[in-house]
Amino acid sequence: MQCKAVTLKRRPMGIPTPDDFSVITTEVASPENGQVQVRNVCMSVDPYMRGRMIERKSYVPPFQIGEILNGGAIGRVSASRHPDFKEGDYVQNGFGWREAFCADASTLTSLGELKAPASAYLGAIGMPGMTAYVGLLEVGALKEGETVFVSGGAGAVGSIVGQIARIKNARVIGSAGTAEKVAWLKDDLGFDYAFDYHDGAIEAHLKEAAPDGIDVYFDNVGGDHLQAALNNMRPFGRIPLCGAISQYNATAPVPGPNNLAMAIGLGLTLRGFIVSHFNHLAKQFRQQMETWVSHGDITYQETIYQGVDKAPDAFIGLFTGANTGKMIVTLE
Ligand SMILES: NC(=O)c1ccc[n+]([C@@H]2O[C@H](COP(=O)([O-])OP(=O)(O)OC[C@H]3O[C@@H](n4cnc5c(N)ncnc54)[C@H](OP(=O)(O)O)[C@@H]3O)[C@@H](O)[C@H]2O)c1
Repeated sequence: MQCKAVTLKRRPMGIPTPDDFSVITTEVASPENGQVQVRNVCMSVDPYMRGRMIERKSYVPPFQIGEILNGGAIGRVSASRHPDFKEGDYVQNGFGWREAFCADASTLTSLGELKAPASAYLGAIGMPGMTAYVGLLEVGALKEGETVFVSGGAGAVGSIVGQIARIKNARVIGSAGTAEKVAWLKDDLGFDYAFDYHDGAIEAHLKEAAPDGIDVYFDNVGGDHLQAALNNMRPFGRIPLCGAISQYNATAPVPGPNNLAMAIGLGLTLRGFIVSHFNHLAKQFRQQMETWVSHGDITYQETIYQGVDKAPDAFIGLFTGANTGKMIVTLE
Protein backbone atom coordinates (compact mmCIF):
# COMPACT_ATOMS: atom_id res chain seq x y z
CA MET A 1 0.00 0.00 0.00
CA GLN A 2 1.18 3.55 -0.68
CA CYS A 3 0.41 6.79 1.14
CA LYS A 4 1.32 10.48 1.17
CA ALA A 5 3.63 11.97 3.81
CA VAL A 6 5.48 15.23 4.51
CA THR A 7 9.26 15.57 4.81
CA LEU A 8 11.42 18.47 5.93
CA LYS A 9 13.10 19.80 2.78
CA ARG A 10 15.34 22.35 4.50
CA ARG A 11 15.70 24.04 7.89
CA PRO A 12 13.37 27.08 8.07
CA MET A 13 14.76 30.55 8.73
CA GLY A 14 12.27 32.70 10.62
CA ILE A 15 8.62 31.77 10.15
CA PRO A 16 8.55 28.53 8.09
CA THR A 17 7.26 28.67 4.50
CA PRO A 18 5.64 25.92 2.38
CA ASP A 19 8.95 25.61 0.47
CA ASP A 20 10.58 24.20 3.62
CA PHE A 21 8.49 21.02 3.19
CA SER A 22 7.95 18.31 0.54
CA VAL A 23 4.96 16.03 0.07
CA ILE A 24 6.07 12.55 -0.99
CA THR A 25 4.52 9.18 -1.70
CA THR A 26 5.85 6.35 0.46
CA GLU A 27 5.32 2.62 0.82
CA VAL A 28 3.45 1.27 3.86
CA ALA A 29 4.58 -2.24 4.82
CA SER A 30 2.26 -5.06 5.79
CA PRO A 31 2.61 -5.99 9.46
CA GLU A 32 4.94 -8.76 10.56
CA ASN A 33 4.58 -10.61 13.84
CA GLY A 34 4.13 -8.07 16.70
CA GLN A 35 3.40 -5.21 14.30
CA VAL A 36 0.31 -3.16 13.48
CA GLN A 37 -0.64 -1.22 10.36
CA VAL A 38 -2.53 2.02 11.02
CA ARG A 39 -4.43 4.51 8.87
CA ASN A 40 -4.27 7.93 10.53
CA VAL A 41 -7.56 9.76 11.03
CA CYS A 42 -6.13 13.09 12.15
CA MET A 43 -2.78 14.56 13.15
CA SER A 44 -1.56 17.40 15.29
CA VAL A 45 0.73 20.28 14.44
CA ASP A 46 2.32 21.82 17.53
CA PRO A 47 4.58 24.81 18.21
CA TYR A 48 7.31 22.61 19.75
CA MET A 49 7.89 21.07 16.30
CA ARG A 50 9.47 24.37 15.24
CA GLY A 51 12.28 23.72 17.75
CA ARG A 52 12.83 20.27 16.24
CA MET A 53 13.47 21.87 12.84
CA ILE A 54 16.63 23.46 14.25
CA GLU A 55 19.84 21.38 14.43
CA ARG A 56 20.55 21.55 18.17
CA LYS A 57 20.46 19.48 21.33
CA SER A 58 17.09 19.59 23.11
CA TYR A 59 14.71 17.38 25.06
CA VAL A 60 13.65 15.84 21.72
CA PRO A 61 16.09 15.17 18.85
CA PRO A 62 16.00 17.43 15.77
CA PHE A 63 14.13 16.37 12.62
CA GLN A 64 16.46 15.31 9.83
CA ILE A 65 16.34 16.83 6.35
CA GLY A 66 14.60 14.51 3.85
CA GLU A 67 12.97 12.38 6.54
CA ILE A 68 9.25 12.15 7.17
CA LEU A 69 8.29 14.45 10.06
CA ASN A 70 6.56 12.96 13.05
CA GLY A 71 4.25 14.05 15.84
CA GLY A 72 1.01 13.17 17.57
CA ALA A 73 -1.74 11.50 15.56
CA ILE A 74 -4.84 9.37 16.06
CA GLY A 75 -5.36 6.44 13.70
CA ARG A 76 -7.38 3.27 13.27
CA VAL A 77 -5.83 -0.15 12.98
CA SER A 78 -6.06 -1.39 9.38
CA ALA A 79 -4.20 -4.71 9.90
CA SER A 80 -2.78 -6.28 13.04
CA ARG A 81 -0.42 -9.08 13.96
CA HIS A 82 -0.50 -8.32 17.67
CA PRO A 83 -3.14 -9.79 20.02
CA ASP A 84 -3.79 -6.47 21.85
CA PHE A 85 -4.84 -4.59 18.68
CA LYS A 86 -7.67 -5.43 16.30
CA GLU A 87 -8.86 -3.87 13.07
CA GLY A 88 -10.80 -0.64 13.70
CA ASP A 89 -9.24 0.12 17.11
CA TYR A 90 -8.37 3.76 17.71
CA VAL A 91 -4.69 4.24 18.57
CA GLN A 92 -2.70 7.26 19.64
CA ASN A 93 0.68 7.34 17.94
CA GLY A 94 3.73 9.48 17.23
CA PHE A 95 3.62 8.88 13.45
CA GLY A 96 1.84 12.02 12.30
CA TRP A 97 2.57 13.87 9.03
CA ARG A 98 1.68 10.67 7.07
CA GLU A 99 -1.57 9.03 6.09
CA ALA A 100 -0.62 5.51 7.18
CA PHE A 101 2.23 3.49 8.64
CA CYS A 102 3.28 0.10 9.99
CA ALA A 103 5.03 -0.08 13.38
CA ASP A 104 5.72 -2.27 16.38
CA ALA A 105 2.69 -2.51 18.65
CA SER A 106 4.84 -1.22 21.53
CA THR A 107 4.89 2.26 19.92
CA LEU A 108 1.09 2.58 20.01
CA THR A 109 -1.35 3.42 22.77
CA SER A 110 -4.82 1.98 22.47
CA LEU A 111 -7.43 4.66 23.19
CA GLY A 112 -10.13 2.15 24.14
CA GLU A 113 -13.62 3.56 24.02
CA LEU A 114 -13.72 7.18 22.86
CA LYS A 115 -15.96 9.56 24.82
CA ALA A 116 -15.52 12.39 22.28
CA PRO A 117 -14.57 12.76 18.59
CA ALA A 118 -11.10 11.35 17.83
CA SER A 119 -9.58 14.81 17.22
CA ALA A 120 -10.36 15.84 20.82
CA TYR A 121 -7.67 13.34 21.87
CA LEU A 122 -5.13 15.60 20.14
CA GLY A 123 -6.52 18.71 21.84
CA ALA A 124 -8.62 19.17 24.96
CA ILE A 125 -8.39 15.50 26.01
CA GLY A 126 -4.89 15.10 24.59
CA MET A 127 -1.42 16.54 25.04
CA PRO A 128 -2.40 20.26 25.05
CA GLY A 129 -5.23 19.68 27.53
CA MET A 130 -2.92 17.73 29.80
CA THR A 131 -0.33 20.50 29.51
CA ALA A 132 -2.96 22.96 30.72
CA TYR A 133 -4.06 20.64 33.53
CA VAL A 134 -0.64 19.84 34.99
CA GLY A 135 0.78 23.28 34.26
CA LEU A 136 -1.97 25.09 36.11
CA LEU A 137 -2.70 22.69 38.95
CA GLU A 138 0.68 21.01 39.60
CA VAL A 139 3.25 23.59 38.48
CA GLY A 140 1.10 26.66 39.10
CA ALA A 141 -0.42 25.14 42.28
CA LEU A 142 -3.59 27.16 41.70
CA LYS A 143 -5.77 27.69 44.77
CA GLU A 144 -9.50 28.44 44.80
CA GLY A 145 -10.31 32.09 44.27
CA GLU A 146 -6.91 33.18 42.98
CA THR A 147 -6.29 35.37 39.92
CA VAL A 148 -4.85 33.70 36.80
CA PHE A 149 -3.44 35.32 33.67
CA VAL A 150 -2.87 33.10 30.62
CA SER A 151 -1.20 34.28 27.41
CA GLY A 152 -2.04 32.55 24.14
CA GLY A 153 -5.47 32.35 25.75
CA ALA A 154 -7.36 31.33 22.60
CA GLY A 155 -4.95 28.51 21.68
CA ALA A 156 -5.12 24.78 22.37
CA VAL A 157 -3.41 25.01 25.76
CA GLY A 158 -4.48 28.52 26.79
CA SER A 159 -8.21 28.02 26.20
CA ILE A 160 -8.17 24.98 28.49
CA VAL A 161 -6.05 26.72 31.14
CA GLY A 162 -8.65 29.49 31.39
CA GLN A 163 -11.55 27.06 31.68
CA ILE A 164 -9.89 24.89 34.34
CA ALA A 165 -9.09 28.08 36.26
CA ARG A 166 -12.74 29.09 36.02
CA ILE A 167 -13.83 25.67 37.31
CA LYS A 168 -11.52 26.30 40.29
CA ASN A 169 -13.32 29.60 40.94
CA ALA A 170 -10.33 31.66 39.89
CA ARG A 171 -10.59 35.09 38.30
CA VAL A 172 -9.36 34.54 34.71
CA ILE A 173 -7.56 36.98 32.43
CA GLY A 174 -6.45 36.05 28.92
CA SER A 175 -4.60 37.61 26.02
CA ALA A 176 -5.02 36.72 22.35
CA GLY A 177 -4.19 38.11 18.93
CA THR A 178 -7.54 39.18 17.45
CA ALA A 179 -10.84 40.77 18.51
CA GLU A 180 -12.71 37.59 17.47
CA LYS A 181 -10.55 35.45 19.74
CA VAL A 182 -11.02 37.92 22.60
CA ALA A 183 -14.80 37.76 22.11
CA TRP A 184 -14.68 33.93 22.22
CA LEU A 185 -12.78 34.01 25.51
CA LYS A 186 -15.19 36.44 27.11
CA ASP A 187 -18.53 35.40 25.63
CA ASP A 188 -18.15 31.62 25.33
CA LEU A 189 -15.42 30.51 27.71
CA GLY A 190 -16.29 32.77 30.64
CA PHE A 191 -12.98 34.62 30.99
CA ASP A 192 -13.46 37.62 33.29
CA TYR A 193 -11.21 39.85 31.21
CA ALA A 194 -9.59 39.29 27.82
CA PHE A 195 -7.62 41.60 25.57
CA ASP A 196 -5.93 41.75 22.18
CA TYR A 197 -2.22 42.14 22.89
CA HIS A 198 -1.85 44.27 19.75
CA ASP A 199 -4.26 46.77 21.29
CA GLY A 200 -2.42 48.95 23.84
CA ALA A 201 0.22 48.04 26.41
CA ILE A 202 -0.08 44.57 27.97
CA GLU A 203 0.74 46.05 31.36
CA ALA A 204 -2.06 48.60 31.17
CA HIS A 205 -4.53 45.75 30.55
CA LEU A 206 -3.15 43.75 33.47
CA LYS A 207 -3.39 46.74 35.82
CA GLU A 208 -7.02 47.25 34.82
CA ALA A 209 -7.89 43.54 34.93
CA ALA A 210 -6.10 42.71 38.19
CA PRO A 211 -5.51 45.84 40.26
CA ASP A 212 -4.55 43.61 43.23
CA GLY A 213 -2.16 41.53 41.14
CA ILE A 214 -1.87 38.09 39.60
CA ASP A 215 -1.34 34.85 41.56
CA VAL A 216 -0.55 32.56 38.62
CA TYR A 217 0.77 33.67 35.24
CA PHE A 218 0.64 30.73 32.77
CA ASP A 219 3.25 31.73 30.20
CA ASN A 220 2.76 30.44 26.65
CA VAL A 221 4.41 33.40 24.93
CA GLY A 222 7.47 34.73 26.80
CA GLY A 223 9.03 38.10 25.90
CA ASP A 224 6.83 41.15 26.44
CA HIS A 225 4.05 39.09 28.04
CA LEU A 226 6.40 37.66 30.67
CA GLN A 227 7.87 41.08 31.36
CA ALA A 228 4.43 42.66 31.84
CA ALA A 229 3.25 39.82 34.07
CA LEU A 230 6.37 40.02 36.28
CA ASN A 231 5.51 43.65 37.06
CA ASN A 232 2.01 42.67 38.17
CA MET A 233 2.47 39.56 40.29
CA ARG A 234 1.26 39.19 43.87
CA PRO A 235 3.69 38.09 46.58
CA PHE A 236 4.54 34.38 46.30
CA GLY A 237 2.93 34.17 42.85
CA ARG A 238 3.76 31.28 40.52
CA ILE A 239 4.73 31.40 36.85
CA PRO A 240 4.57 28.05 35.02
CA LEU A 241 6.89 28.52 32.03
CA CYS A 242 5.05 26.46 29.43
CA GLY A 243 6.18 28.00 26.14
CA ALA A 244 7.75 31.07 24.56
CA ILE A 245 6.15 31.13 21.11
CA SER A 246 7.08 34.77 20.54
CA GLN A 247 10.69 33.58 20.28
CA TYR A 248 10.48 30.34 18.29
CA ASN A 249 11.12 31.99 14.90
CA ALA A 250 13.70 34.51 16.07
CA THR A 251 16.69 34.77 13.76
CA ALA A 252 18.81 36.64 16.35
CA PRO A 253 19.02 36.37 20.16
CA VAL A 254 16.00 37.99 21.79
CA PRO A 255 16.20 40.31 24.81
CA GLY A 256 15.11 38.70 28.06
CA PRO A 257 12.67 40.35 30.46
CA ASN A 258 14.64 43.21 32.07
CA ASN A 259 12.75 42.86 35.35
CA LEU A 260 13.48 39.31 36.53
CA ALA A 261 14.59 40.82 39.82
CA MET A 262 10.88 41.34 40.62
CA ALA A 263 10.91 37.64 41.50
CA ILE A 264 13.28 38.23 44.43
CA GLY A 265 11.32 40.62 46.60
CA LEU A 266 7.96 39.03 45.76
CA GLY A 267 9.21 35.49 46.37
CA LEU A 268 7.92 34.36 42.97
CA THR A 269 8.40 30.86 41.60
CA LEU A 270 9.19 30.60 37.89
CA ARG A 271 9.21 26.93 36.91
CA GLY A 272 9.63 25.42 33.48
CA PHE A 273 7.97 22.11 32.68
CA ILE A 274 7.30 19.64 29.90
CA VAL A 275 3.99 17.80 29.95
CA SER A 276 5.77 14.43 29.90
CA HIS A 277 7.29 15.22 33.32
CA PHE A 278 3.77 14.42 34.58
CA ASN A 279 3.03 11.23 32.64
CA HIS A 280 2.09 9.56 35.92
CA LEU A 281 -1.05 11.77 35.92
CA ALA A 282 -2.19 10.81 32.39
CA LYS A 283 -4.97 8.44 33.50
CA GLN A 284 -6.32 10.85 36.11
CA PHE A 285 -6.22 13.66 33.53
CA ARG A 286 -8.10 11.69 30.89
CA GLN A 287 -10.88 10.68 33.28
CA GLN A 288 -11.27 14.21 34.63
CA MET A 289 -11.18 15.92 31.22
CA GLU A 290 -13.60 13.44 29.61
CA THR A 291 -16.00 14.18 32.45
CA TRP A 292 -15.60 17.97 32.16
CA VAL A 293 -16.08 17.81 28.37
CA SER A 294 -19.08 15.46 28.51
CA HIS A 295 -20.77 17.68 31.15
CA GLY A 296 -20.09 20.82 29.11
CA ASP A 297 -17.87 22.31 31.83
CA ILE A 298 -15.10 22.57 29.26
CA THR A 299 -15.73 23.33 25.61
CA TYR A 300 -13.22 23.44 22.82
CA GLN A 301 -12.80 24.71 19.28
CA GLU A 302 -10.73 23.30 16.45
CA THR A 303 -9.33 24.88 13.32
CA ILE A 304 -9.25 22.12 10.74
CA TYR A 305 -7.12 21.74 7.62
CA GLN A 306 -8.02 18.83 5.34
CA GLY A 307 -5.39 16.48 3.90
CA VAL A 308 -1.76 15.71 4.68
CA ASP A 309 -0.54 18.07 1.95
CA LYS A 310 -2.12 20.92 3.95
CA ALA A 311 -0.16 20.01 7.10
CA PRO A 312 2.65 22.52 6.37
CA ASP A 313 0.09 25.34 6.00
CA ALA A 314 -1.55 24.31 9.27
CA PHE A 315 1.81 24.24 11.02
CA ILE A 316 2.82 27.66 9.65
CA GLY A 317 -0.58 28.98 10.75
CA LEU A 318 0.38 28.42 14.40
CA PHE A 319 2.84 31.29 14.08
CA THR A 320 0.47 33.66 12.31
CA GLY A 321 -2.45 33.04 14.66
CA ALA A 322 -4.52 31.19 12.03
CA ASN A 323 -6.00 28.88 14.66
CA THR A 324 -8.65 29.36 17.30
CA GLY A 325 -8.39 26.48 19.74
CA LYS A 326 -6.57 23.38 18.55
CA MET A 327 -5.02 23.25 15.06
CA ILE A 328 -5.93 19.86 13.55
CA VAL A 329 -5.19 18.23 10.19
CA THR A 330 -7.74 15.59 9.19
CA LEU A 331 -6.42 12.75 7.04
CA GLU A 332 -9.53 10.74 6.08
N1 LIG B 1 5.69 22.66 28.07
C1 LIG B 1 4.96 21.79 27.38
O1 LIG B 1 4.96 20.58 27.62
C2 LIG B 1 4.10 22.32 26.26
C3 LIG B 1 3.13 21.47 25.65
C4 LIG B 1 2.31 22.03 24.65
C5 LIG B 1 2.47 23.36 24.27
N2 LIG B 1 3.44 24.11 24.87
C6 LIG B 1 3.61 25.53 24.53
O2 LIG B 1 2.39 26.17 24.81
C7 LIG B 1 2.21 27.26 23.92
C8 LIG B 1 0.86 27.11 23.23
O3 LIG B 1 0.87 25.92 22.46
P1 LIG B 1 -0.47 25.44 21.72
O4 LIG B 1 -0.23 24.08 21.22
O5 LIG B 1 -1.63 25.69 22.60
O6 LIG B 1 -0.51 26.43 20.48
P2 LIG B 1 -1.70 27.42 20.15
O7 LIG B 1 -1.76 28.42 21.24
O8 LIG B 1 -2.92 26.63 19.84
O9 LIG B 1 -1.21 28.07 18.79
C9 LIG B 1 -0.23 29.02 18.77
C10 LIG B 1 -0.81 30.43 19.02
O10 LIG B 1 0.24 31.26 19.48
C11 LIG B 1 -0.07 32.59 19.20
N3 LIG B 1 1.16 33.28 18.75
C12 LIG B 1 1.90 33.00 17.66
N4 LIG B 1 2.95 33.84 17.59
C13 LIG B 1 2.84 34.69 18.66
C14 LIG B 1 3.61 35.80 19.15
N5 LIG B 1 4.71 36.21 18.51
N6 LIG B 1 3.20 36.43 20.27
C15 LIG B 1 2.09 36.03 20.92
N7 LIG B 1 1.32 34.99 20.51
C16 LIG B 1 1.69 34.33 19.39
C17 LIG B 1 -1.13 32.59 18.08
O11 LIG B 1 -2.35 33.09 18.64
P3 LIG B 1 -2.68 34.67 18.70
O12 LIG B 1 -3.60 34.95 17.56
O13 LIG B 1 -3.31 34.81 20.03
O14 LIG B 1 -1.38 35.41 18.55
C18 LIG B 1 -1.32 31.12 17.76
O15 LIG B 1 -2.64 30.78 17.46
C19 LIG B 1 3.40 27.23 22.97
O16 LIG B 1 4.38 28.12 23.45
C20 LIG B 1 3.89 25.81 23.07
O17 LIG B 1 5.23 25.68 22.73
C21 LIG B 1 4.24 23.61 25.84
